[in-house]
This record gives sequence, C-alpha cells and structure tokens, in this order.
Amino acid sequence: MKIIIVYNSKTGFTKRYAEWIAEEMNCDILPYKEFTEATANGFDIIIFGSRLFVGKVEYLDKIKSYISKHPEQKLIVFATGATPAAEEETINKIWTDNFSETEIKTIPHYYMQGGLDYGKMGFADGTMMKVAAKLSKDPALKKSYDIASRKFIAPLLNHLKKDSKAFYYRADLSGYTEAEYPVSFTVNSASELHDYYENNKGKYQFDNGYYGETSMADDMFLNASKFGEAFFNDYSLLFVVLEEGSGSVRHKVESISAENGSLSVNITKTRPEIGTADIAHWHIVLALDKSLSEMQKVIIL
Ligand SMILES: Cc1cc2nc3c(=O)[nH]c(=O)nc-3n(C[C@H](O)[C@H](O)[C@H](O)COP(=O)(O)O)c2cc1C
Repeated sequence: MKIIIVYNSKTGFTKRYAEWIAEEMNCDILPYKEFTEATANGFDIIIFGSRLFVGKVEYLDKIKSYISKHPEQKLIVFATGATPAAEEETINKIWTDNFSETEIKTIPHYYMQGGLDYGKMGFADGTMMKVAAKLSKDPALKKSYDIASRKFIAPLLNHLKKDSKAFYYRADLSGYTEAEYPVSFTVNSASELHDYYENNKGKYQFDNGYYGETSMADDMFLNASKFGEAFFNDYSLLFVVLEEGSGSVRHKVESISAENGSLSVNITKTRPEIGTADIAHWHIVLALDKSLSEMQKVIIL
C-alpha cells in the first residue's frame, strides 16, 4: 500500500501534523505546491492535509477534482485550524460545508487542532485574522497560540491500520433466539475472547466454514498465535453482530472516526439484486488501537 501525504501549510501547523503522520507510517510527504498528476502517480492512498481558511479546507476542491479523475486512488483528508477540537458543532459544520452527503460517508476526514501564529502569517492573512478576531469578540484569537498535539493523529493512523484489521465472519444462529441487532461490544483480553466463544458457541455456528472459508472458531477463537495476549497488549476487538434477511448481503467497514470521546464506525452493506432469502448472522470484528477502546461506540449502518 503506497501512501503519500500532501500538505498545504502557511504557518507550519499542518506541516507538523503531516510530518508526525509520515513518521508513523514511514510514507512519502509532499508540499501541496508540488502536487501534480506526475508526483501523485502510483500512490494507492493520498492523505491531504490543509489549514482551515474561513470555514473552507483550503484547496480541497482541487484535490477532489483530481481524485474524481483517479478513482483508483483513495483520499483521506485532515484539516487543521484555530478551533479547539472540543467545539464539536463548529467542526461538524466545517465537514458538512466542505463535503457532500456522500463524500462525508466515503472520504475519511479528521480534524486536528492547530492554533494561530501571527508571526508567520502573511500580511493579508494577518489582517484578515485580526478583523475576524475583533468581530468574534473572542480574546483568544487576538494572540498567537499553539494547541497542536500528536494525539490528534491517532484516529487517522487507526484508520490506515484498520484496512487489514477488519474481519468478517458469517456464523448463523443454531436455533431461534431473540436478540436486538446490531449487537456491539468490546473484547479486551484473550480470556474475554475465550469466554465469548464458550458462552455463545451453542448459539452461533462458529465452527461452520461458510463458502469454504476458515471458520470463525478456527480463525479467531482458537487462534492464540493471532489473537493471544500479545495482540491484546496493543489492540482491543470491537464486535458488531448483525442479522441480515439475505445470505447474500456483504459488509464493508468504510471508516472509523473518533471525536470528542465517541467512536463512529461506518459499515456499508451491499445487497445483490438477486438475493437469497435465508437469514444470516455476521460477526464483524475490528481491531482497534487500545487507546480507542474506552470511547463510546456509535455504529452507523
Ligand atoms: C484568514 C484566516 C482564516 C482562518 N479561518 C479559520 C477558520 O475558519 N476556522 C479555524 O478553525 N481556523 C481558521 N484559521 C486558522 C488556521 O486554520 C490555523 O492557524 C491553521 O492551523 C493554520 O495552518 P498552517 O500553519 O498549516 O498554515 C484561519 C486563519 C487565517 C489566517
């Protein structure tokens, strides 16, 4: 998976975040000024980072128009701004102003709080910002401040890591049992994983290898080399158990985003035109960075 980070930064906040992500991912990094068809060629994922400029993610439109011509490349966006990340409503409005309804669901996007640096701003930007500071009556905006922190890159990193860490298992009910689906819960240790298996193996057909694939029991519950204590030192498992009216429905975890203490997991379903009418049960299991396991989970289907 070849990844490039393209960043637009006037006073250094976005550049700092781009460098932190590049350090973690060991990937290429490019200033937006040098972004062309040729420099972007050959990458699977483009992470575009830019400053907020009067409510807009600057140059996002240019990147979106590039991506529309290169659907084989996947776009991930992050924005930095003076707004504290805790101002949820303001940040949500920024995303709805910058993305269409479809884009918001399909383009992973992350806000990373930056700050203000009057010393490095150009004359025009500095003047605009001072006027904005006066109008907003927020004294904080009159001076430089730096509220950037490396911790804000964690959700984006988690998203990049997750592609290989979403597991999809079909395990139908063994008999009729009433349950409210989707059911979701977190498993934090190898013994909890074992307990779940023991307590539910009479309920779900974990041993059935559907479509010739390895069964959930063999791949997850009885696989200590993959899901042993070492794994749980770094990760937690988020289980999402679903019931589908047709055995042909398939799922995909599109995005995971963390904001203000809650973690949203966006799962899409593909319904084939000609479906089978059998009821199916799925366990979608996500390996999450331990740091995210305490968050409140919001599952969006
Ligand atoms: C003219 C101007 C407008 C800005 N508009 C916003 C904004 O709408 N929302 C926000 O949170 N920050 C806004 N900012 C602050 C910048 O987005 C913030 O300082 C950003 O982290 C700068 O990134 P950079 O250092 O990579 O250039 C604005 C800054 C300037 C100069």
